[in-house]
Amino acid sequence: MTKTTNNWWKKSVVYQIYPSSFNDTNGDGIGDIPGIIEKLDYLKNLGIDVIWLSPVYDSPQADNGYDIRDYQSIYEKYGTMEDLDKLLEEVHNRGMKLVMDLVVNHTSDEHQWFVESKSSKESPYRDYYVWRDGKADGEPPNNWGSVFSGSAWDYDEATGQYYLHLFAKKQPDLNWENPDLRTDVYEMMNFWLDKGIDGFRMDVINFISKDQDFPDGEVGEGQLYGDSGQYFINGPRIHEFLKEMHTEVLAKHDVMTVGEMPGATPDDAKDYTDPANDELDMIFTFEHMNLDQVDGDKWNLKALNLVDLKENFEKWQTSLHGVGWNSLYWNNHDQPRIVSRFGDDAKYREKSAKMLATCLHMMQGTPYIYQGEELGMTNVQFESLEDYRDIETLNMYKEKKSLGWSHERIMEAIYAKGRDNARTPMQWNASENAGFTTGTPWLAVNPNYQQINAEAALEDEHSIYHYYKRLIQLRKEKDILTNGRFELLMRDDAQVFAYKRVGEEETYVVVCNFSGEEAVLEDSIVAEVQGAEVVISNDDSYDIRHKLAPYEGVVYSK
Ligand code: NOJ
Repeated sequence: MTKTTNNWWKKSVVYQIYPSSFNDTNGDGIGDIPGIIEKLDYLKNLGIDVIWLSPVYDSPQADNGYDIRDYQSIYEKYGTMEDLDKLLEEVHNRGMKLVMDLVVNHTSDEHQWFVESKSSKESPYRDYYVWRDGKADGEPPNNWGSVFSGSAWDYDEATGQYYLHLFAKKQPDLNWENPDLRTDVYEMMNFWLDKGIDGFRMDVINFISKDQDFPDGEVGEGQLYGDSGQYFINGPRIHEFLKEMHTEVLAKHDVMTVGEMPGATPDDAKDYTDPANDELDMIFTFEHMNLDQVDGDKWNLKALNLVDLKENFEKWQTSLHGVGWNSLYWNNHDQPRIVSRFGDDAKYREKSAKMLATCLHMMQGTPYIYQGEELGMTNVQFESLEDYRDIETLNMYKEKKSLGWSHERIMEAIYAKGRDNARTPMQWNASENAGFTTGTPWLAVNPNYQQINAEAALEDEHSIYHYYKRLIQLRKEKDILTNGRFELLMRDDAQVFAYKRVGEEETYVVVCNFSGEEAVLEDSIVAEVQGAEVVISNDDSYDIRHKLAPYEGVVYSK
């Protein structure tokens, strides 16, 4: 395949596949690589350019593959390396690209490096991970908490030290201070790039450099652990490490890199993605996903204030313009379904799903679609905790219980924010288990699959699927979407998200109603869109230019 140059990823639309929940071909209830190959025409038909594949590497699956045992082999339930090679070939045959997940903040505790590291203080691999003595009283080296609840340190009896794990106990953090570890990581990346993959999505890559003093964080009210992010988010040597990775690996290939970076600000993002800095191509940010929570705790629910969302997007759109590059997303495997979150998944499911897509896809950046988003898949509410599989959810339940939260409050939080909302199997058709598997799915299918499924969506020309297809097409045809400047309109309005994209010869005006009530547009916008052409709209019947129907989204061009 000939590689195109010139930042092809700026005009691309990415589709994320979460392998265990995508398509199962052997009836074991778990998606697999042959299942992905089977659906490539579906993705090509949707119009997507790039597939981001969540981890398919060998793993004990404590965190669904984000705990890697061997970076250079494939998890047996997903298939073989031959299957992966075939997938890559078939993706390329269809003119699409394949981006793999790179998880190098941590490995599995079953990775050979950790097995060696744990075996003795003298092991040459000891220093591949972060080992520290406990405090004088035997307590962990500091008061950091793990993202998945509990202390971020686990004690190893045999060698009498603690190891750091910012995530699960089975996900020990790698020590990037060690140059041999870095060389091994770069070698592994080159192995994949030599196969011809088209880039990496880098898991929590801005966590890899830690403050080597490992200070305690301040403990807030009602908290069990110290506020520690400042000691490892965008840590002291992060830019040095990324520049080194760029020189050793990335500079030699025409690939796309996207850094998942919780806690990064627009200023950080500029440093990471300004091409002059030779680090990454784009950033995957979180601020817009953190607006419906209290005190930095995603389980502590708060209703979204639309003004906050608008101002947040404005900040990112204007700061990165002409300097760096952003990802545009509402969903991924860690987030609840957007139609249930910022839309209305009952009365206005189709309408609000299309409006949300319109609002996002008209901005500057590279849009990401998470499997099932194009069908308007919704959150799920399992009655019993036993039906949940996600380690974050299950650990959180115990921790919140110990803090005195009621069962009802915790379940409400899980229904709103739990990661299994995104992980229920892909809904392909109305047959048993949504056509995902002939066996028992590893996580139950959302019971609404008889109404919401790909087969039905493909047949209905007005479906959410076909609407996404048009949005994706627009991204390819209209340079203004890639290059235009962003200007926020109706800043203080609590219902309408309106903005302009200003190009050299053309202006787009995007107006979206985020509510289930009619909304009135500002006079200046009404004047501006008089006589303007409609680029796309989710309500062709509602041609009243001074008002928006519930969840209406329209784009005008002039
Ligand atoms: C971010 C990933 O998206 C998430 O799924 C995972 O649990 C953590 N990083 C740890 O790898």
